[in-house]
Amino acid sequence: MLISVCIGSACHLKGSYDVIDKLQELVEDNDLGDQVELKAVFCLGNCQNGVSVKIDEEENVYSVTKKTVNTFFEDVIKTKLTA
Ligand code: FES
Repeated sequence: MLISVCIGSACHLKGSYDVIDKLQELVEDNDLGDQVELKAVFCLGNCQNGVSVKIDEEENVYSVTKKTVNTFFEDVIKTKLTA
């Protein structure tokens, strides 16, 4: 699974790097390093929301913040990996 996190200016201001760091930590804690790849990307065209995150080539852009990153990981990433 490829997780792309936007580091465009709007998302950067909302804490892209915190989100990336936290995701990295969660991936490691869950031993998912061989299944998940994290990548920083530029503007995903969804600047008005939280930090924009995309999974693989999905159209959907998720909006994640430092506060919701744990839930996002549990509910979206883990669910998709075990689906
Ligand atoms: S800067 Fe992140 S979606 Fe535009």
